[in-house]
Amino acid sequence: MSAIRPAAVVVLAAGEGTRMKSATPKVLHEICGRSLVGHVLAAAGELEPQNLVVVVGHARKQVTEHLSSVAPHVRTAVQAEQNGTGHAVRMGLEELGGVVDGTVIVVCGDTPLLTGATLKALSETHSADGNAVTVLTAEMPDATGYGRIVRDESGAVTAIVEHKDADDAIRAIREINSGVFAFDGRLLAEALKQVRTDNSQGEEYLTDVLGILREAGHRVGASVAADHREIAGINNRVQLAEARRILNDRLLTEAMLAGVTVVDPATTWVDVTVTFEQDAVVHPGTQLQGATHIAEGAEVGPNSRLNDTQVGPGARVDNTVSNGARIGAQASVGPYAYLRPGTRLAAKGKIGTYVETKNASIGEGTKIPHLSYVGDATIGEYTNIGAASVFVNYDGQEKHHTTVGSHCRTGSDNMFVAPVTVGDGAYTAAGSVITKDVPPGSLAVARGQQRNIEGWVARKRPGSAAAKAAEAASREESGEG
Ligand code: UD1
Ligand code: CA
Repeated sequence: MSAIRPAAVVVLAAGEGTRMKSATPKVLHEICGRSLVGHVLAAAGELEPQNLVVVVGHARKQVTEHLSSVAPHVRTAVQAEQNGTGHAVRMGLEELGGVVDGTVIVVCGDTPLLTGATLKALSETHSADGNAVTVLTAEMPDATGYGRIVRDESGAVTAIVEHKDADDAIRAIREINSGVFAFDGRLLAEALKQVRTDNSQGEEYLTDVLGILREAGHRVGASVAADHREIAGINNRVQLAEARRILNDRLLTEAMLAGVTVVDPATTWVDVTVTFEQDAVVHPGTQLQGATHIAEGAEVGPNSRLNDTQVGPGARVDNTVSNGARIGAQASVGPYAYLRPGTRLAAKGKIGTYVETKNASIGEGTKIPHLSYVGDATIGEYTNIGAASVFVNYDGQEKHHTTVGSHCRTGSDNMFVAPVTVGDGAYTAAGSVITKDVPPGSLAVARGQQRNIEGWVARKRPGSAAAKAAEAASREESGEG
């Protein structure tokens, strides 16, 4: 059956999330590079609803700001006081004019593992069975805290009873309310008017709508989720970590089935936005974040954190931290490199050990092998930058640019004091402080001349071990040894 676009999805995100013990509102906590509510919105978006409204309340300024940056198409409804899930849905419907014709899906903002596929299945069951309400349920190994699904002898759902309002017999039920529902919009609006607050929490329970609709003779159905882990609500940081682990495993499984080698899934962490090509290899202890892409045959890790970084085909990145870099095909990075935004390493280039780069365009085959800082620079092709070089880009007030040409050989321990240009094919001597442009093909030497003061040790440090060693060496040289 083809999926029908629901008239609206209402996401409940007004609650405080006290058990998170956090200055950050619960639904803004992140797993795998996306906020909890962001995950829910992504799943809801797969239904292509005509309206998507998030009910905000606690910390609403922060939540609204977040929503307008990650999901600007979403509308928000304010629930000033958290008087329960039923009240929250009423506030959501008010934002949509009070009554919505067609199917209304309600989800909680704290269930990040919920998939679009499960929501579609719920929506399809709901319309196929012609229900007034269909609740998504699951069999939980431990149902503590959840609302329980009560069924009659025929198996029909009769009510949902909150844990706090349940007796022992009902608490023994392991089928629970996921908090996700499909409703007929008109019947929902009617029923919400009748919801009372005479329960242990003094709140308007959305769950009471089921009983109300059933009493009025409407069809009430349930759709059982295939995997109970999908509907887990996050209430504390232990559950946050568990959900992160589950989502991470899901993402890695998908990558491995698509031809990526993940050497140690237990210590590899990826964001939902990370993409791979076939035969990419990820070594242990690696975190891939944001818009990171690992191309065909590239190997990353061990012990690397790459954020918004593109790794080209066949490139090798080892023990590296990178943020906003582009690494070319067959290039080599690390071990122990730090790539900062604006780093562009062309094909077959090398950024080696204890090298930091920022806003630097490094040409094909060019190497910066050891102990260097390269910032605000353009370097041509097949150039070698000597060990321990610094591109001195900051004069204390402004940043300046350094240009080094192609096929250059710069000496070790050079300082390139920007703005400065080294021409194609030029050499620089070790220990030089390059402050003036170097013409193509020249050798630049910019350091103090060496002066040897002979016999200094014998005169100034007589009888010392150094003096004795020097004396022995000179005897040997003159053949007296
Ligand atoms: C709710 C359900 C319970 C279900 C469980 C699933 C009710 C009465 N209970 O219980 O049957 O098993 O979810 O996780 O519906 N919220 C608001 N405004 C409010 C109250 C809550 O927006 O006034 C939002 C919260 O931010 C949260 C969601 O609704 O996203 C669920 O609220 P929560 O307090 O966590 O409900 P539970 O007690 O877990
Ligand atoms: Ca909850």
